[in-house]
Formats: sequence, C-alpha cells, structure tokens
Amino acid sequence: MNDLFNLNRKIVLSAPMAGYTNDIYRRFARRFGADLVFTEMISADGLVYSTERTLELMKFSDEEKPIGIQFFTADPDIMYKAALMIRDSGFSVLDLNFGCPVRKVTKRGAGSSLLKSSELAIEIVSAAMESNIPVSVKVRCGFNSCDEWGETLELLEKLENLGVSFITIHPRSARQMFSGKSDWSLIADAVNKLHIPIIGSGDLFSIDDVVKMVETANVAGVSIARGGIANFEIFTQVRAFFENKAIPKFDFYNRVETMREFIAEEFESYGEDIASKWCRKFLVKLTKNIPDASSFRRRLSYIRTLDDVNSFLDDILSRV
Ligand SMILES: Cc1cc2nc3c(=O)[nH]c(=O)nc-3n(C[C@H](O)[C@H](O)[C@H](O)COP(=O)(O)O)c2cc1C
Repeated sequence: MNDLFNLNRKIVLSAPMAGYTNDIYRRFARRFGADLVFTEMISADGLVYSTERTLELMKFSDEEKPIGIQFFTADPDIMYKAALMIRDSGFSVLDLNFGCPVRKVTKRGAGSSLLKSSELAIEIVSAAMESNIPVSVKVRCGFNSCDEWGETLELLEKLENLGVSFITIHPRSARQMFSGKSDWSLIADAVNKLHIPIIGSGDLFSIDDVVKMVETANVAGVSIARGGIANFEIFTQVRAFFENKAIPKFDFYNRVETMREFIAEEFESYGEDIASKWCRKFLVKLTKNIPDASSFRRRLSYIRTLDDVNSFLDDILSRV
C-alpha cells in the first residue's frame, strides 16, 4: 500500500459506492487506470456474524488488486474481530467509513455519527489496526455542518498520530447528503495541517474538476465516485494527468461501447435476473443530454436480456 504513495505522482482511487462498486465495476476501474479500488461499505458486524450478503460483497479477483475493503461499525470489539478475520484475505488497505449519512447506518452510531464521538472513533481505528493491514479513514467535514470542521480536523490529527495511512475527505456535512457543493478549501486545510496523504473526494465529474481540485488543494490523490458511473474513461484521463502524459479524449461512442462490454460481463457473472435490474442505473446515465431522453428512460424498466441492452445502446447511438 505504501508503495502507492511512493510513486512520485498523485494517485487515482475508485471510491467505495454501495450498490455500484461490485467486482466487475472494480475490474473495469482498474483496467481503465484506477491505482486502487474499494469494495462498497461492508458491515463489520455482518462479517463477524457471517451473513451471506456480507461474504458476497467481499469477493474479489486478482485483477482487482490492489483493493481496499471498507468497513462500518460502531463497535470496537466487532472491529477487532473483523480485522483479525481479514488479515490474510489479500486486501491492501482497510478503510473505515466515518462519512456515511444514511440513517440506517447513523442510527446505529456508525458512519458519519462517529464524527460526533471522537473517542469511540479512535477506539475503532485502534481495533482495525489489529489487522496488520494499513488502515485509512474516510470522513465528511462534520455531521451537522461544515462549521464543525475544526473538531473533525482535531480528530484527524489524532488519527494521524495513531498511524492511519491516509485520509479521504468528502467536504460536505452528513446532513447535506449530496446537496450544495463540496468545500474543497477544507481539503486544502487538511493538506496544510496534516502530514499523511490526503485524498480529495466530492464533485469530481470530469478531468477538469480533477485539475481544479489539484490546483485548489494539492491533494496526494483523488477518489472518483459518481463521476465514474458509466464513465470508466475518467480513470484513464486522471491517470494520464497524474503521469504527466497527454490526456486522451473519449467521445460518447467510446463510453457506450465500454458500457456494452461491462454490462455483458455483469450478465455473464450474475445472470439475467440480477444484471437486468443492476444495469439500469448505469444505462440511465447515458440518457443524460440525449434527444428524447425520457422515452429511453421509460424503456429501461423493460430491459430483461442482454439483447435488450444491446438494442437500447444501438438506439442511443443512432440518436446522437
Ligand atoms: C450511490 C453512492 C453510494 C456510496 N456509497 C459509499 C460507500 O459505501 N462508502 C463511502 O465511503 N462512500 C460512499 N459514497 C460516497 C462517495 O464515495 C463519495 O465520497 C461521494 O459520492 C462524493 O464524491 P462525488 O461527488 O465525486 O460523487 C457513495 C456515494 C454514492 C453516490
């Protein structure tokens, strides 16, 4: 893991995204240039009690490596047990989710709730370190508002002293969910005050956004989330930028053809029932800004087979 920060360049991460970043997504993100990919957030409690869904979320192949696992929990004992369980699983980093704003998670005291309980957060990080795998943390700027940034920064300073490898910051408050804009000046503040690598997250939809974030905050790397959905090409562009190479251009046709391949792999691995529903949230992204978008969106709920997907994509291409 530490090798990634010794490359003498910035790095591009594929962010954890529940419901999106499964094994196939991660394989594509790696193939297109992501330096490190993440599982979606996984319940440490679910792992300790071995629920089938949790074990399913943890599956990965060599092509995805290096890969990080992201956990959420509010219980240091559970974290300790989960950390021991994944010790030899091949993950390069164990990331802790202190940013999830979803009520199902925060009402249990996990995710962004931990920004309000720094002592417990520290206990959880210490327990995670028992894995002997590098530990990282992902946070928002605060729970109620970014005015709480001072307290969040104090927590981050303590986590740095504990030996956390890097920190990813999505500078919106948990209450904000995804509204407003992320405040990159807070990422810049963390870069100035902390010594470990800081990864920037929030509103990175294009290579231009990444260039601006680097200018604003001089981050050690960026974490691409929504900007990577139906747009794996962004990983190639960011990687080229970080390697000081010419940034390749991709057009809509390229994106559609990548999606064709990606969805075909999903059908092959997961079968029609699962893949036909799963692929709709990717296909809907391709309908943005195309003529007659609403009729394409209506069509999505009728997709059942890979042939349906292919004719949908052919029709989209014939409209642009
Ligand atoms: C559908 C969705 C699922 C997400 N799931 C997770 C998650 O499991 N763990 C996590 O730390 N962040 C999660 N996030 C937050 C992203 O990793 C990222 O920090 C956030 O979307 C801001 O980046 P963006 O504006 O570039 O999308 C999720 C975001 C979205 C949109």
